[in-house]
Amino acid sequence: MYTRVGDDRLGTFALETVTDESAVAHKPASLTHVEAASLPMALLTAQQLLTEAAGLQRGQSVLIHAGAGAVGSAAIQLAKHLGLQVTTTASTGNIEFVRELGADTVIDRKTQHFQDEVRNMDAVLDSVGMENLLLSFRSIKRGGTVVSISDGPDVALARHRRVSPLVWPVFAAMGAKPHAAARRAGANYRYWFMRADGQQLESLNPLLEAGRVHPHIDRVFPFAQTAQAIAYAEAGKAGGKVVVQMRPD
Ligand SMILES: NC(=O)c1ccc[n+]([C@@H]2O[C@H](COP(=O)([O-])OP(=O)(O)OC[C@H]3O[C@@H](n4cnc5c(N)ncnc54)[C@H](OP(=O)(O)O)[C@@H]3O)[C@@H](O)[C@H]2O)c1
Repeated sequence: MYTRVGDDRLGTFALETVTDESAVAHKPASLTHVEAASLPMALLTAQQLLTEAAGLQRGQSVLIHAGAGAVGSAAIQLAKHLGLQVTTTASTGNIEFVRELGADTVIDRKTQHFQDEVRNMDAVLDSVGMENLLLSFRSIKRGGTVVSISDGPDVALARHRRVSPLVWPVFAAMGAKPHAAARRAGANYRYWFMRADGQQLESLNPLLEAGRVHPHIDRVFPFAQTAQAIAYAEAGKAGGKVVVQMRPD
């Protein structure tokens, strides 16, 4: 079995954990436990961004920022499976990698400005931050949807997550700039917070077992080195997931 533990906990380092059964899925048979552990957060986020937050349909176009990242690389592979036209951004050293994942068009973020090159997308998925998010509205078509999973949480998210209305003004302030940019572009803006969903996770097993979607792991640390693993991940240099292995596979 594997899981992205329930929505109110970001994760766990433990041999045993308690979570709602609705969050649990059968592990894809072809994957090791280390490979499987690297997947639920990125895979669920990517699937929900494409199919729920942006509501994309076969043949539509999507700009996926940071295609070499955990969410981005999962999103490129799932988007190609869904029959979407994929443009992505990556730094020079990752261009070949994102092409191999299936991206149709790649923007080298070190030498090109995506906002000058990419136009009329049906959707843009941003995991980078506010500056990149606001520039993304230059690449969206009228009626399209820009989705952020990084900066710009808004009142809709606060309401959905049942946050006290007393702090909604804080969310309104955080979401003000992207919502204003969306109005100017005649587009939609959504902030997405991923949902733990065992059924959805398990529905992706055939893709993983057929090798159509691959895990993307940078480094594996033994449990005794969990602190080093966290420090390594926080340093932001990892090109893929950092996994803490509880016991040999
Ligand atoms: N809201 C949610 O539910 C949710 C869920 C999952 C993740 N997240 C958030 O989404 C973000 C990405 O997560 P992740 O796991 O995919 O991260 P990750 O695996 O660390 O990937 C980040 C990628 O961003 C690219 N990058 C770094 N600096 C950049 C910059 N200045 N401009 C453009 N691209 C840059 C890097 O690739 P290149 O060097 O090739 O550009 C890197 O591969 C994190 O902030 C995470 O907290 C949110």
